Amino acid sequence: MTALTLSTAGAATLRADALVVGVAQGAKGPVVAPGAEAVDKAFGGKLAGVLETLGASGAEGELTKLPSADGLKAPVVIAVGLGAAPEKDGAYDAEALRRAAGVAARALTGSKKAAFALPVEAAEDVAAIAEGALLGAYSFAAYRQNGKDAKDVKGPLGEVAVVGAKPRDKAHKAAAERAVALAEEINRARDLVNTPPNDLFPESFAAVATAAGKEHGIKVQVLDEKALAKGNYGGLLGVGQGSVHGPRLVKLAYTHPKAEKTLALVGKGITYDSGGISLKPAGHNETMKCDMAGAAAVFAAVVTAARLGLKVNVTGWLALAENMPSGSATRPGDVLRMYSGKTVEVLNTDAEGRLVLADALWKASEEKPDAIVDVATLTGAMVLALGNRTFGVMANDDAFRTSIHEIADEVGEQSWPMPMPAELRKGMDSPVADIANMGERMGGGLVAGLFLQEFVGEGITWAHLDIAGPAFHESAPYGYTPKGGTGSAVRTLVRLAERTADGDLG
Ligand code: BES
Ligand code: MN
Ligand code: ZN
Repeated sequence: MTALTLSTAGAATLRADALVVGVAQGAKGPVVAPGAEAVDKAFGGKLAGVLETLGASGAEGELTKLPSADGLKAPVVIAVGLGAAPEKDGAYDAEALRRAAGVAARALTGSKKAAFALPVEAAEDVAAIAEGALLGAYSFAAYRQNGKDAKDVKGPLGEVAVVGAKPRDKAHKAAAERAVALAEEINRARDLVNTPPNDLFPESFAAVATAAGKEHGIKVQVLDEKALAKGNYGGLLGVGQGSVHGPRLVKLAYTHPKAEKTLALVGKGITYDSGGISLKPAGHNETMKCDMAGAAAVFAAVVTAARLGLKVNVTGWLALAENMPSGSATRPGDVLRMYSGKTVEVLNTDAEGRLVLADALWKASEEKPDAIVDVATLTGAMVLALGNRTFGVMANDDAFRTSIHEIADEVGEQSWPMPMPAELRKGMDSPVADIANMGERMGGGLVAGLFLQEFVGEGITWAHLDIAGPAFHESAPYGYTPKGGTGSAVRTLVRLAERTADGDLG
């Protein structure tokens, strides 16, 4: 894990393997961003010109390495693009800082220490730089054979020193501590998503949650397949019955003695989605270890809330099952009796996420929380609609949906509000059961949302985040986003918990 320090030493005098500075797009070419004045001075005030000569423009995602100048302790300077320079006296956008810090941290794999001399005006800038650097430094090398020449084997950047932050400033210190907790838990969620499904299955995921609960004072309860059968959890059992690894429902309860509100978070935790008897075709199941990313996000959010000691109760529900075809698997045509009592005709065993979530949503509803948010890699349709970087937000309450979209924006996560058109419900009418698990193909993501809504308790505010697009990143890394698990939705959930603690919502 990468360490974070707030440095009192200036950029020039700090001992580090590299000095990271910001470069932005000015009206007449690249400009050196605030925070790097001492560095620019060491280059005789000509750093912007040197960068321009090297082809730098200051565009987002750009990285330029140059040898250091006399008077600087670090041997290398790394200039990262911040995009368009803000208007005079304007501040740099938090997400631009986060991404630039992430770009630098990724390039510094294998280094011991780097000094980040990016623009710091307020505590939010410290937070953004720290988050971006710690998230960008992430690597997943657990399955690499030692000594092989893979980049991630060199190990992540050892230490991030934020220059210009004030270690004795309360707000700066709090921002840094929050960033460390948040980034460590996001990186843990990424690890869970990246762990192959032969090692991560419901039982082993539950064991990870139990251990984390002990460490952070979170009460953890695990319902195994016996307990699920006793409790009539037909959705979890129906999805899990084709696998040698039985399903689990995990409850994580973080409570604060002075909390006034309780937030319930429900995560889809399909540790592998083969599609079941409605088997996915080749080409569609190679990445389906990511189908527990919702549960991983919920888990990470509860642990972060506990680490930050937020004044709100946060209950996490992980709906864990492995969706496999076998002689014991649920068949298309089977009818499941769900935990809520409702019956579901399973027309397609690949629409399994909504089945495990239905049980968890109903269970969560029984405790009458102030709000429920579920997070799920639920539909390919949402990926078609919104692409690979944006999650869809649905809700039974317009204001709540808007709040979540705004919160996501604030923390640098891309989301978009989606409707729940009532006319799509009839597509799920079943000739034998109360509802079918599939409806019209058009608007498939919205159909799934409508299905889930039927398993939310009366009068409870609820939102559904479909993270099928952004949960797993398959193309080249960018900003602080690596290949593989991303930790999508964790920052949104944590800020939602903070807002709820502050009494900002409802
Ligand atoms: N886990 C998938 C959705 C998914 C697709 C996640 C792509 C991440 C990337 C889900 O269980 C699924 O298979 N959904 C089906 C539903 C359909 C059968 C109604 C889908 O979207 O095709
Ligand atoms: Mn599926
Ligand atoms: Zn799935």
